[in-house]
Amino acid sequence: MTSLPMPRTRPTGGAGLADTFGRVARDLRVSVTDRCNLRCTYCMPAEGLPWMPRAEMLTDEELLRVIGVFVGLGVRQVRLTGGEPLLRRSLVDVVAGIAALEPRPSIAMTTNGVGLERVAGRLADAGLDRVNVSLDTIDSETFSRLTRRDRLTDVEKGLAAAAEAGLTPVKVNAVAMRGINDDSVADVLSWCLDRGYELRFIEQMPLDAQHAWDREVMVGADEIRQRLSERFTLTPLPAADRGSAPAERFLVDGGPATVGIIASVSEPFCSTCDRARLTADGQVRNCLFSEQETDLRGPLRDGASDQELADLINGEMWRKARGHGIGEPDFHQPTRPMSSIGG
Ligand code: 5AD
Ligand code: SF4
Repeated sequence: MTSLPMPRTRPTGGAGLADTFGRVARDLRVSVTDRCNLRCTYCMPAEGLPWMPRAEMLTDEELLRVIGVFVGLGVRQVRLTGGEPLLRRSLVDVVAGIAALEPRPSIAMTTNGVGLERVAGRLADAGLDRVNVSLDTIDSETFSRLTRRDRLTDVEKGLAAAAEAGLTPVKVNAVAMRGINDDSVADVLSWCLDRGYELRFIEQMPLDAQHAWDREVMVGADEIRQRLSERFTLTPLPAADRGSAPAERFLVDGGPATVGIIASVSEPFCSTCDRARLTADGQVRNCLFSEQETDLRGPLRDGASDQELADLINGEMWRKARGHGIGEPDFHQPTRPMSSIGG
């Protein structure tokens, strides 16, 4: 009798995009451009970043082909992100192309909202289901300081247009920054409640291009809860309702409105993560924090079959780490910043 450990073999077919920890990816985040029209201080420097050369970005046709392969592998939700996804001129066509896939995945988008007013209706008509708009403050001076652009009014109009177009529930993502907007988190909640937007706070993660993130300075979930509790009664929703959703949600003043807190750093949810990521230049990533990625663009342009692309995607997902390891001694911030991975 031998008890040699069996090598772990990758399941073939049927299992979806599995990894060695038993998680299965159903949610694909697609960064459609690394460019942005804001310059949030926690994301990039004032002068912007050296943007990806256009020739290195997947064309619409390439993008849709790869997303189709992911859908064939069990992906059921596609989220378009950036940079700022609305800066991709063909975005409405990309949405229509995704909506034509079988089975049709649900389609969401994370945007800064600046250009949303003009295209919300067309995006909804093309098949976009929902939006998350990033908005960290409702004070225009603070907004200008934080994003280095005076565009708060555009974001407000974009949000209203999204609700009008039925891109609901309209969610708002906010990052709290110490000394900038940490004392006004309750104002943002009150503003969102008045307008029927679902607010979620996200702990700042070490993904800034400047590598200036500091755990000591980060505004943690506890602190956000505490500050909100000074003005509102928060009742936690049962954790069982959370599934793979990263936000811990609370009823506000007895409901039905809720607020979410995404404690990516202080209470990581890696064990239920169901996400895979595709960058605008055609790299698959199994995690925001992975230090490696798998190139699909090269093989795609060299004539790879769908099966060959599927094998590459499966291989990347199979080596997904147990967790992001922020705070552990061997943690390294990924070279690729948030703006070219997508949120
Ligand atoms: N940590 C947490 N959230 C971030 N975002 C951008 N950079 C960071 C970071 N370092 C947010 C944006 C947007 C979404 C894409 O991610 O504010 O809501
Ligand atoms: Fe642009 Fe988003 Fe980065 Fe702000 S956080 S600069 S909106 S990519």
